[in-house]
Amino acid sequence: MDQTANNAGGPLATIRVETGLSIIIPTYREAKNIPFILARINALRQEQNLVLEVLFMDDNSDDGSIEAIEQSGFDWARIIVRTENRGLSPAVIDGFRAARYPVLVCMDCDLSHPPEIIPQMMLALSSGQQFIIGSRYVPGGSTDDDWGIFRWLNSRVATLLARPLTSAKDPMSGFFALRKADFDKHDEYNPIGYKVGLEIITKCGFRNVGEVPIHFSDRIHGESKLSFKEQLKYIQHLRRLYIYKFGNAMHLLQFVVVGASGVVVNLATLALLLLMQLPEAVCLAGGIAVSVVTNFLLNRRFTFSYARHRNVWRQFAGFVGASSLGMAVNYSVALYLRASFLPETTTGLYLAALIGIASGTIFNFLGNRYIVFRKQYVRR
Ligand code: GDD
Ligand code: MN
Repeated sequence: MDQTANNAGGPLATIRVETGLSIIIPTYREAKNIPFILARINALRQEQNLVLEVLFMDDNSDDGSIEAIEQSGFDWARIIVRTENRGLSPAVIDGFRAARYPVLVCMDCDLSHPPEIIPQMMLALSSGQQFIIGSRYVPGGSTDDDWGIFRWLNSRVATLLARPLTSAKDPMSGFFALRKADFDKHDEYNPIGYKVGLEIITKCGFRNVGEVPIHFSDRIHGESKLSFKEQLKYIQHLRRLYIYKFGNAMHLLQFVVVGASGVVVNLATLALLLLMQLPEAVCLAGGIAVSVVTNFLLNRRFTFSYARHRNVWRQFAGFVGASSLGMAVNYSVALYLRASFLPETTTGLYLAALIGIASGTIFNFLGNRYIVFRKQYVRR
Protein backbone atom coordinates (compact mmCIF):
# COMPACT_ATOMS: atom_id res chain seq x y z
CA MET A 1 0.00 0.00 0.00
CA ASP A 2 1.06 3.52 -0.60
CA GLN A 3 2.94 4.59 2.52
CA THR A 4 1.95 8.17 2.07
CA ALA A 5 -1.69 7.40 2.51
CA ASN A 6 -0.88 6.55 6.12
CA ASN A 7 0.54 10.00 6.59
CA ALA A 8 -2.77 11.45 5.65
CA GLY A 9 -4.87 9.31 7.93
CA GLY A 10 -6.11 10.06 11.41
CA PRO A 11 -7.02 13.49 12.71
CA LEU A 12 -6.79 15.18 9.35
CA ALA A 13 -10.39 14.55 8.56
CA THR A 14 -11.26 17.16 11.13
CA ILE A 15 -9.17 19.95 9.66
CA ARG A 16 -11.20 22.72 8.14
CA VAL A 17 -9.39 25.15 5.96
CA GLU A 18 -11.62 27.95 4.93
CA THR A 19 -8.96 30.24 3.63
CA GLY A 20 -7.82 28.32 0.59
CA LEU A 21 -4.62 27.10 -0.85
CA SER A 22 -2.58 27.65 -4.01
CA ILE A 23 -0.57 24.68 -5.21
CA ILE A 24 2.26 25.73 -7.51
CA ILE A 25 3.73 23.03 -9.75
CA PRO A 26 6.71 23.93 -11.94
CA THR A 27 6.66 21.84 -15.08
CA TYR A 28 8.78 21.10 -18.02
CA ARG A 29 7.50 18.32 -20.32
CA GLU A 30 5.23 16.69 -17.79
CA ALA A 31 2.14 16.15 -19.96
CA LYS A 32 2.02 12.46 -19.07
CA ASN A 33 2.08 13.09 -15.33
CA ILE A 34 -0.46 15.91 -15.27
CA PRO A 35 -3.63 13.73 -15.29
CA PHE A 36 -2.25 11.65 -12.40
CA ILE A 37 -1.23 14.50 -10.15
CA LEU A 38 -4.56 16.26 -10.82
CA ALA A 39 -6.47 13.10 -9.93
CA ARG A 40 -4.59 12.77 -6.62
CA ILE A 41 -5.13 16.43 -5.77
CA ASN A 42 -8.80 16.21 -6.71
CA ALA A 43 -9.33 13.21 -4.44
CA LEU A 44 -7.74 15.13 -1.59
CA ARG A 45 -9.75 18.24 -2.39
CA GLN A 46 -13.03 16.35 -2.14
CA GLU A 47 -12.08 14.31 0.90
CA GLN A 48 -10.87 17.32 2.90
CA ASN A 49 -13.22 19.88 1.47
CA LEU A 50 -10.38 22.10 0.42
CA VAL A 51 -10.67 25.37 -1.43
CA LEU A 52 -7.72 25.38 -3.76
CA GLU A 53 -6.19 26.27 -7.09
CA VAL A 54 -3.42 24.51 -8.96
CA LEU A 55 -1.04 26.58 -11.06
CA PHE A 56 1.21 24.75 -13.47
CA MET A 57 4.15 27.01 -14.19
CA ASP A 58 5.29 25.66 -17.51
CA ASP A 59 8.37 26.66 -19.46
CA ASN A 60 6.73 26.33 -22.84
CA SER A 61 6.90 22.52 -22.96
CA ASP A 62 4.60 22.32 -25.97
CA ASP A 63 4.03 18.63 -25.30
CA GLY A 64 0.30 18.52 -24.76
CA SER A 65 0.42 19.86 -21.19
CA ILE A 66 -2.11 22.58 -21.99
CA GLU A 67 -4.50 20.03 -23.50
CA ALA A 68 -4.04 17.68 -20.56
CA ILE A 69 -5.19 20.39 -18.17
CA GLU A 70 -8.11 21.40 -20.38
CA GLN A 71 -9.24 17.79 -20.67
CA SER A 72 -9.27 17.38 -16.92
CA GLY A 73 -12.22 19.75 -16.80
CA PHE A 74 -11.14 21.09 -13.41
CA ASP A 75 -11.80 24.80 -13.29
CA TRP A 76 -9.45 25.17 -10.34
CA ALA A 77 -6.45 24.08 -12.41
CA ARG A 78 -4.68 26.35 -14.87
CA ILE A 79 -1.41 26.60 -16.66
CA ILE A 80 0.80 29.62 -17.10
CA VAL A 81 3.15 29.26 -20.04
CA ARG A 82 6.39 31.14 -19.52
CA THR A 83 8.82 32.08 -22.24
CA GLU A 84 11.21 34.32 -20.34
CA ASN A 85 13.54 33.79 -17.40
CA ARG A 86 13.14 30.04 -17.69
CA GLY A 87 14.02 27.59 -14.97
CA LEU A 88 12.47 25.79 -12.06
CA SER A 89 13.10 28.40 -9.36
CA PRO A 90 11.97 31.50 -11.23
CA ALA A 91 8.89 29.55 -12.34
CA VAL A 92 8.01 28.84 -8.72
CA ILE A 93 8.62 32.44 -7.63
CA ASP A 94 6.38 33.69 -10.47
CA GLY A 95 3.74 31.18 -9.46
CA PHE A 96 3.81 32.31 -5.84
CA ARG A 97 3.36 35.90 -6.98
CA ALA A 98 0.42 34.97 -9.19
CA ALA A 99 -1.26 32.81 -6.53
CA ARG A 100 -4.58 33.98 -5.13
CA TYR A 101 -4.88 32.11 -1.85
CA PRO A 102 -3.17 32.73 1.49
CA VAL A 103 -1.38 29.39 1.74
CA LEU A 104 1.24 28.45 -0.85
CA VAL A 105 2.46 24.96 -1.62
CA CYS A 106 5.18 24.03 -4.08
CA MET A 107 5.53 20.50 -5.37
CA ASP A 108 6.87 18.45 -8.27
CA CYS A 109 4.62 17.20 -11.05
CA ASP A 110 6.14 13.73 -11.26
CA LEU A 111 4.31 12.25 -8.25
CA SER A 112 7.49 12.15 -6.17
CA HIS A 113 5.70 14.27 -3.60
CA PRO A 114 2.52 12.92 -1.97
CA PRO A 115 -0.19 15.63 -2.05
CA GLU A 116 -1.97 13.70 0.72
CA ILE A 117 0.22 15.30 3.38
CA ILE A 118 -0.71 18.85 2.41
CA PRO A 119 -3.39 19.10 5.14
CA GLN A 120 -0.73 18.16 7.67
CA MET A 121 1.48 20.93 6.31
CA MET A 122 -1.37 23.42 6.65
CA LEU A 123 -2.00 22.28 10.20
CA ALA A 124 1.65 22.90 11.03
CA LEU A 125 1.45 26.35 9.46
CA SER A 126 -1.63 27.25 11.45
CA SER A 127 0.09 26.14 14.64
CA GLY A 128 2.58 28.96 14.15
CA GLN A 129 5.39 27.56 12.05
CA GLN A 130 6.51 29.69 9.14
CA PHE A 131 7.76 27.21 6.60
CA ILE A 132 6.88 23.54 6.30
CA ILE A 133 8.95 21.04 4.39
CA GLY A 134 7.79 17.70 3.04
CA SER A 135 10.91 16.02 4.34
CA ARG A 136 12.77 12.85 3.45
CA TYR A 137 15.18 13.13 6.33
CA VAL A 138 13.07 13.27 9.47
CA PRO A 139 11.89 10.11 11.25
CA GLY A 140 9.21 8.51 9.11
CA GLY A 141 10.58 10.01 5.90
CA SER A 142 12.14 7.88 3.18
CA THR A 143 13.15 7.65 -0.44
CA ASP A 144 12.64 4.86 -2.94
CA ASP A 145 15.17 2.07 -2.64
CA ASP A 146 16.65 2.51 -6.06
CA TRP A 147 18.20 5.82 -5.15
CA GLY A 148 21.81 5.01 -6.01
CA ILE A 149 24.54 5.70 -3.47
CA PHE A 150 25.64 8.58 -5.68
CA ARG A 151 22.35 10.44 -5.55
CA TRP A 152 22.05 9.77 -1.82
CA LEU A 153 25.56 11.02 -1.01
CA ASN A 154 25.11 13.96 -3.29
CA SER A 155 21.93 14.96 -1.57
CA ARG A 156 23.53 14.62 1.86
CA VAL A 157 26.58 16.72 0.98
CA ALA A 158 24.36 19.39 -0.56
CA THR A 159 22.29 19.46 2.63
CA LEU A 160 25.38 19.77 4.81
CA LEU A 161 26.57 22.78 2.81
CA ALA A 162 23.25 24.48 3.50
CA ARG A 163 23.61 23.94 7.23
CA PRO A 164 24.85 27.48 7.98
CA LEU A 165 21.66 28.80 6.38
CA THR A 166 19.08 26.62 8.12
CA SER A 167 18.99 23.77 10.56
CA ALA A 168 16.21 22.01 8.64
CA LYS A 169 16.97 18.39 7.82
CA ASP A 170 15.81 18.55 4.22
CA PRO A 171 16.05 22.13 2.97
CA MET A 172 16.68 20.83 -0.57
CA SER A 173 13.20 19.44 -0.83
CA GLY A 174 11.07 20.76 -3.66
CA PHE A 175 7.94 20.15 -1.56
CA PHE A 176 7.07 22.90 0.91
CA ALA A 177 4.39 25.25 2.18
CA LEU A 178 4.29 28.79 3.55
CA ARG A 179 1.96 31.75 3.94
CA LYS A 180 1.60 34.08 1.01
CA ALA A 181 1.72 37.05 3.37
CA ASP A 182 5.23 36.02 4.47
CA PHE A 183 6.32 35.42 0.90
CA ASP A 184 5.04 38.82 -0.20
CA LYS A 185 7.01 40.68 2.46
CA HIS A 186 10.16 40.17 0.40
CA ASP A 187 10.83 40.79 -3.22
CA GLU A 188 14.55 40.28 -3.62
CA TYR A 189 14.27 36.63 -4.63
CA ASN A 190 17.01 35.78 -7.05
CA PRO A 191 17.51 32.03 -7.09
CA ILE A 192 19.77 30.16 -9.47
CA GLY A 193 19.01 26.50 -10.14
CA TYR A 194 16.76 24.17 -8.19
CA LYS A 195 16.83 25.14 -4.52
CA VAL A 196 14.00 27.61 -4.40
CA GLY A 197 12.96 26.50 -0.91
CA LEU A 198 16.38 27.33 0.49
CA GLU A 199 16.22 30.70 -1.23
CA ILE A 200 12.92 31.53 0.43
CA ILE A 201 13.99 30.29 3.89
CA THR A 202 17.10 32.47 3.71
CA LYS A 203 15.58 35.61 2.21
CA CYS A 204 12.59 35.51 4.55
CA GLY A 205 14.84 34.74 7.48
CA PHE A 206 12.60 31.87 8.61
CA ARG A 207 13.76 30.31 11.88
CA ASN A 208 10.63 28.40 12.62
CA VAL A 209 10.85 25.70 9.98
CA GLY A 210 8.80 22.54 10.42
CA GLU A 211 9.14 19.22 8.65
CA VAL A 212 6.51 16.64 7.84
CA PRO A 213 7.89 13.22 6.83
CA ILE A 214 7.23 12.04 3.29
CA HIS A 215 8.07 9.07 1.21
CA PHE A 216 9.81 10.43 -1.89
CA SER A 217 8.88 8.14 -4.80
CA ASP A 218 10.84 7.86 -7.98
CA ARG A 219 9.18 9.40 -10.97
CA ILE A 220 7.42 6.96 -13.29
CA HIS A 221 7.13 8.99 -16.50
CA GLY A 222 9.89 11.04 -18.06
CA GLU A 223 13.21 11.80 -16.49
CA SER A 224 14.78 14.09 -13.91
CA LYS A 225 16.22 17.37 -15.13
CA LEU A 226 18.65 17.62 -12.24
CA SER A 227 21.94 17.56 -14.11
CA PHE A 228 25.57 18.12 -13.15
CA LYS A 229 25.21 21.65 -14.42
CA GLU A 230 22.48 22.18 -11.84
CA GLN A 231 24.86 21.08 -9.11
CA LEU A 232 27.41 23.69 -10.12
CA LYS A 233 24.65 26.27 -10.05
CA TYR A 234 23.95 25.17 -6.50
CA ILE A 235 27.45 26.22 -5.41
CA GLN A 236 26.90 29.63 -7.00
CA HIS A 237 23.54 29.88 -5.32
CA LEU A 238 25.02 28.97 -1.93
CA ARG A 239 27.67 31.65 -2.25
CA ARG A 240 24.98 34.25 -2.93
CA LEU A 241 22.89 33.10 0.01
CA TYR A 242 25.90 33.10 2.36
CA ILE A 243 26.66 36.65 1.30
CA TYR A 244 23.02 37.60 1.81
CA LYS A 245 22.88 36.07 5.25
CA PHE A 246 26.35 36.75 6.59
CA GLY A 247 27.14 39.97 4.72
CA ASN A 248 30.45 41.42 5.80
CA ALA A 249 31.49 38.23 7.56
CA MET A 250 31.30 36.44 4.21
CA HIS A 251 33.27 39.21 2.49
CA LEU A 252 35.83 38.94 5.27
CA LEU A 253 36.05 35.16 4.89
CA GLN A 254 36.70 35.47 1.15
CA PHE A 255 39.18 38.25 1.82
CA VAL A 256 41.02 36.02 4.27
CA VAL A 257 41.11 33.10 1.82
CA VAL A 258 42.50 35.39 -0.89
CA GLY A 259 44.95 36.79 1.67
CA ALA A 260 46.11 33.27 2.51
CA SER A 261 46.87 32.70 -1.16
CA GLY A 262 48.77 35.99 -1.07
CA VAL A 263 50.94 34.69 1.76
CA VAL A 264 51.93 31.72 -0.39
CA VAL A 265 52.65 33.98 -3.37
CA ASN A 266 54.65 36.36 -1.17
CA LEU A 267 56.85 33.66 0.35
CA ALA A 268 57.32 31.88 -2.98
CA THR A 269 58.46 35.14 -4.57
CA LEU A 270 60.74 35.77 -1.61
CA ALA A 271 62.32 32.34 -2.08
CA LEU A 272 62.76 32.95 -5.80
CA LEU A 273 64.41 36.34 -5.32
CA LEU A 274 66.69 34.93 -2.62
CA LEU A 275 67.76 32.28 -5.11
CA MET A 276 68.71 35.11 -7.46
CA GLN A 277 71.03 36.40 -4.71
CA LEU A 278 69.33 39.76 -4.41
CA PRO A 279 69.66 41.76 -1.18
CA GLU A 280 67.22 40.68 1.54
CA ALA A 281 65.46 44.05 1.68
CA VAL A 282 64.74 43.82 -2.05
CA CYS A 283 63.51 40.23 -1.73
CA LEU A 284 61.09 41.21 1.05
CA ALA A 285 59.79 44.11 -1.03
CA GLY A 286 59.45 41.91 -4.14
CA GLY A 287 57.35 39.35 -2.29
CA ILE A 288 55.02 42.09 -1.11
CA ALA A 289 54.73 43.67 -4.56
CA VAL A 290 53.86 40.48 -6.43
CA SER A 291 51.33 39.35 -3.86
CA VAL A 292 49.61 42.73 -3.97
CA VAL A 293 48.90 42.19 -7.66
CA THR A 294 47.55 38.64 -7.24
CA ASN A 295 45.51 39.66 -4.20
CA PHE A 296 44.00 42.53 -6.13
CA LEU A 297 42.98 40.33 -9.06
CA LEU A 298 41.43 37.65 -6.85
CA ASN A 299 39.58 40.09 -4.64
CA ARG A 300 38.20 41.85 -7.66
CA ARG A 301 37.02 38.55 -9.12
CA PHE A 302 35.58 36.99 -5.96
CA THR A 303 35.46 38.93 -2.69
CA PHE A 304 34.14 42.17 -4.13
CA SER A 305 32.72 40.82 -7.38
CA TYR A 306 29.74 43.17 -7.12
CA ALA A 307 32.10 46.01 -8.14
CA ARG A 308 33.73 44.11 -10.98
CA HIS A 309 32.32 46.22 -13.77
CA ARG A 310 34.16 49.35 -12.63
CA ASN A 311 37.47 50.53 -14.12
CA VAL A 312 40.22 48.06 -13.28
CA TRP A 313 43.11 50.57 -13.28
CA ARG A 314 41.39 53.00 -10.99
CA GLN A 315 40.51 50.14 -8.68
CA PHE A 316 44.07 48.90 -8.77
CA ALA A 317 45.33 52.36 -7.88
CA GLY A 318 42.79 52.47 -5.07
CA PHE A 319 43.75 48.99 -3.90
CA VAL A 320 47.44 49.92 -3.79
CA GLY A 321 46.59 53.22 -2.16
CA ALA A 322 44.43 51.61 0.48
CA SER A 323 46.95 48.82 0.96
CA SER A 324 49.93 51.14 1.06
CA LEU A 325 49.64 51.76 4.75
CA GLY A 326 49.31 48.01 5.30
CA MET A 327 52.24 47.37 3.00
CA ALA A 328 54.33 49.98 4.80
CA VAL A 329 53.38 48.38 8.10
CA ASN A 330 54.20 44.95 6.66
CA TYR A 331 57.57 46.05 5.26
CA SER A 332 58.77 48.02 8.26
CA VAL A 333 57.71 45.36 10.75
CA ALA A 334 59.55 42.74 8.68
CA LEU A 335 62.71 44.86 8.33
CA TYR A 336 62.63 45.87 11.97
CA LEU A 337 62.22 42.30 13.25
CA ARG A 338 64.93 41.13 10.86
CA ALA A 339 67.35 43.76 12.11
CA SER A 340 66.55 43.38 15.78
CA PHE A 341 65.63 40.27 17.66
CA LEU A 342 64.88 37.56 15.09
CA PRO A 343 67.72 35.04 14.48
CA GLU A 344 69.88 35.79 11.47
CA THR A 345 68.97 32.54 9.77
CA THR A 346 66.80 32.09 6.68
CA THR A 347 64.02 30.88 8.96
CA GLY A 348 64.33 34.17 10.80
CA LEU A 349 63.86 36.02 7.52
CA TYR A 350 60.70 34.07 6.63
CA LEU A 351 59.39 34.59 10.13
CA ALA A 352 59.94 38.33 9.78
CA ALA A 353 58.10 38.26 6.46
CA LEU A 354 55.18 36.34 7.99
CA ILE A 355 54.75 38.59 11.00
CA GLY A 356 54.97 41.57 8.66
CA ILE A 357 52.17 40.11 6.53
CA ALA A 358 49.96 39.53 9.55
CA SER A 359 50.42 43.09 10.78
CA GLY A 360 49.65 44.58 7.38
CA THR A 361 46.55 42.47 6.76
CA ILE A 362 44.12 44.12 9.11
CA PHE A 363 44.90 47.53 7.61
CA ASN A 364 44.29 46.18 4.13
CA PHE A 365 40.89 44.74 4.83
CA LEU A 366 39.48 47.86 6.41
CA GLY A 367 40.75 50.18 3.71
CA ASN A 368 39.43 48.05 0.89
CA ARG A 369 36.09 47.15 2.31
CA TYR A 370 35.13 50.68 3.15
CA ILE A 371 36.90 52.71 0.48
CA VAL A 372 37.96 50.91 -2.68
CA PHE A 373 35.22 48.29 -2.96
CA ARG A 374 32.49 50.11 -1.12
CA LYS A 375 28.98 49.38 -2.29
CA GLN A 376 27.40 52.01 -4.46
CA TYR A 377 23.81 52.94 -3.97
CA VAL A 378 21.98 54.57 -6.80
CA ARG A 379 20.41 57.85 -5.84
CA ARG A 380 17.23 58.80 -7.60
N1 GDD B 1 9.06 25.47 -15.21
C1 GDD B 1 10.09 24.63 -15.10
N2 GDD B 1 11.28 24.96 -15.66
N3 GDD B 1 9.92 23.48 -14.41
C2 GDD B 1 10.97 22.63 -14.33
C3 GDD B 1 12.23 22.90 -14.91
C4 GDD B 1 12.38 24.14 -15.62
O1 GDD B 1 13.44 24.47 -16.16
N4 GDD B 1 13.07 21.87 -14.62
C5 GDD B 1 12.34 21.00 -13.90
N5 GDD B 1 11.08 21.44 -13.72
C6 GDD B 1 9.97 20.80 -13.00
C7 GDD B 1 9.75 19.36 -13.39
O2 GDD B 1 8.86 19.26 -14.47
C8 GDD B 1 9.17 18.79 -12.10
O3 GDD B 1 7.79 19.01 -12.00
C9 GDD B 1 9.89 19.57 -11.02
O4 GDD B 1 10.31 20.79 -11.63
C10 GDD B 1 11.11 18.81 -10.46
O5 GDD B 1 11.97 18.48 -11.51
P1 GDD B 1 12.68 17.05 -11.60
O6 GDD B 1 13.49 17.05 -12.83
O7 GDD B 1 11.69 15.95 -11.40
O8 GDD B 1 13.64 17.16 -10.36
P2 GDD B 1 14.25 16.03 -9.44
O9 GDD B 1 13.26 14.93 -9.17
O10 GDD B 1 15.57 15.63 -9.97
O11 GDD B 1 14.51 16.86 -8.12
C11 GDD B 1 13.52 16.97 -7.12
O12 GDD B 1 14.05 16.54 -5.91
C12 GDD B 1 15.11 17.35 -5.43
C13 GDD B 1 15.60 16.77 -4.14
O13 GDD B 1 16.18 15.55 -4.36
C14 GDD B 1 13.03 18.42 -7.01
O14 GDD B 1 11.94 18.45 -6.10
C15 GDD B 1 14.09 19.33 -6.48
O15 GDD B 1 13.53 20.63 -6.25
C16 GDD B 1 14.63 18.76 -5.21
O16 GDD B 1 15.70 19.57 -4.78
MN1 MN C 1 11.52 14.42 -9.92
